[in-house]
Amino acid sequence: MHVIIVVGSKHGSTRSIAEAVGEVLRHRGINVTTVDADAASASLAGYDAAVIGSAVYVGRWMKGAQAFLDANRESLRNMPLWLFSSGPLGEGPKHPDDLAEIRGFAADVHAKDHQIFAGKLDKADLSFAERAAVRIVHAPYGDAREWGRIRSWAETIASELSDPMGSMPTSTTATQ
Ligand SMILES: Cc1cc2nc3c(=O)[nH]c(=O)nc-3n(C[C@H](O)[C@H](O)[C@H](O)COP(=O)(O)O)c2cc1C
Repeated sequence: MHVIIVVGSKHGSTRSIAEAVGEVLRHRGINVTTVDADAASASLAGYDAAVIGSAVYVGRWMKGAQAFLDANRESLRNMPLWLFSSGPLGEGPKHPDDLAEIRGFAADVHAKDHQIFAGKLDKADLSFAERAAVRIVHAPYGDAREWGRIRSWAETIASELSDPMGSMPTSTTATQ
């Protein structure tokens, strides 16, 4: 069993989430290759399943991650796929169109799940323009990543990959 984890991350906090997922899968005896979306080759040949995630900027996935999904839509439709988005720090996405693209994609390719994880905003990492954008949306600075939730999600993935027939159906409330 070989799982590819593809991640879109600008400041590194989403990459750490992907690494935490990979670590759990490896502990469960699954081979994992983690790649940055910008560097990912278009081919999914040789992989049995995929976990793809991205930081959310202004309601959308990062370009490289979205491009990876678009380039691999057909292959992803034919393999077990889990998606995650990382961003919200306060009350979560505020605009009704937030993540609309990725929700549509998840439904189209029958992704097994799409989780939204809280992210991290470190003022020192941000450009002047990014700080201005953060002020406008009143997003709080800090590290809100929920490592327990992230690891237990990864455990669910590992269980489902080890025993696809035995696992519980994915909760509909978790798919967004
Ligand atoms: C300019 C800017 C815009 C953002 N827009 C959103 C947003 O629309 N929705 C959201 O949930 N999070 C938003 N965030 C929060 C980021 O997604 C969050 O900080 C994330 O953890 C960054 O991931 P990265 O470190 O992997 O780049 C924004 C952050 C910045 C700096």
